[in-house]
Amino acid sequence: MIGSGYVGLVSGACFADFGHTVVCVDKDERKIAALKGGAIPIFEPGLDRLVSENVRRGRLSFTTDLGPAVAEADAVFIAVGTPSRRGDGHADLSYVFAAAEEIARSLTGYTVIVDKSTVPVGTGDEVERIIHATAPEADFAVVSNPEFLREGAAIEDFKRPDRVVIGSDDPRALAVLRDIYRPLAIGRSPIVEMGRRAAELTKYAGNAFLATKITFINEIADLCEKVGADVQDVARGIGLDNRIGAKFLHAGPGYGGSCFPKDTLALLKTAQDYEAPQRIVEAVVGVNDNRKRAMGRKVIAAVGGDIRDKTVCVLGLTFKPNTDDMRDSPAIAVIQTLQDAGAHVHAHDPEGTEQAQKVLENVTYFDEPYAAMEGAEALVIVTEWDNFRALDLKRVKSLLAAPVLVDLRNIYPRARCEELGFTYCGIGR
Ligand code: UDX
Repeated sequence: MIGSGYVGLVSGACFADFGHTVVCVDKDERKIAALKGGAIPIFEPGLDRLVSENVRRGRLSFTTDLGPAVAEADAVFIAVGTPSRRGDGHADLSYVFAAAEEIARSLTGYTVIVDKSTVPVGTGDEVERIIHATAPEADFAVVSNPEFLREGAAIEDFKRPDRVVIGSDDPRALAVLRDIYRPLAIGRSPIVEMGRRAAELTKYAGNAFLATKITFINEIADLCEKVGADVQDVARGIGLDNRIGAKFLHAGPGYGGSCFPKDTLALLKTAQDYEAPQRIVEAVVGVNDNRKRAMGRKVIAAVGGDIRDKTVCVLGLTFKPNTDDMRDSPAIAVIQTLQDAGAHVHAHDPEGTEQAQKVLENVTYFDEPYAAMEGAEALVIVTEWDNFRALDLKRVKSLLAAPVLVDLRNIYPRARCEELGFTYCGIGR
């Protein structure tokens, strides 16, 4: 497993748990030293136990030395980062190509190189070309096997996926991959085989569709607010239609994270390159970008339009619960909008404070939610961590300087909040 980040580490640990022998490689010496010492560099429920158990059983190990790991392997997974390239939004493939070159130098015997990183259509061809140019004699195949796991539910998603996508038309490679994924096939997860380019595009199309679904319900929520309907009723009403499906219809402050924003942009770049415009995805990206700041303005409106020198308490900073990931989190734009309008921000997040400190300035952080809301003139829920659902609302009201509750995730019942004397402002309700 080349790259021991989110996808690499989770996939590596899960493959080891299937009974395979896995070596996780990373260039970052500190990360590998930490992993060897039993420390997990990311926050992901259940991952530490899975890693330590498989290390103890001798099936999972860590190294910075790519060569020997590759030489021994039947399959080499590329799971390095593909961030958005600065300036043009294209996926930055330099880590993928560097890995391909390095892998090529150490290949022995027939080896399947599997692209697990999210990479634009045609990357598999380029990886193949690089390996062939570096090691003309090497016996290998390049396969696309995109990963669909969600942060916070990564192990469950990996072990019980809706499907596994394998893109290759090489029978030998397909046989190796079928073997690797056999435990999932036995567990009845569909293993879908297709062309390599189709597999590469499947990942982008999947994420773009999900981003579209969220953005669709978010705009319906805006309409609900105007016409006096509850978006949760509408979402349930449409979601029960099997053709639509109930998932990913939670209206909120806009999607964030390490995948949707980056992958939708990369898809648009591919669309541009191939002159096949994706107007729906273009609209989704624009609507979602605007929405995040609009959420800040919603808070300002809720406190009466002038927020200068007022203190606002923000609960939840990460882009979703059960992660410490702040990448493209709506909280960033919400907080910056409030600060631009002169507000002081007090914040609490169960896991994200350390990451938040790197991207947000002039925020006062608190270790627990009640301390963060003392004296604030509004309480804003940006991320729906479970412990916020269970807050004692009477205590909340007694701590706030003004009982304004802006619930950007619709986690509280409006009627109960109003009964308690809050000015309640949800999404699409
Ligand atoms: C996503 C995909 O789900 C996963 O398949 C892919 O491999 C990587 O990208 P992830 O980024 O971990 O996973 O998070 P996800 O749970 O999908 O949420 C993404 C964003 O959408 C979050 O900001 C979340 O709050 C938001 N969201 C999700 C909504 O606003 N409403 C919803 O109904 C669902």
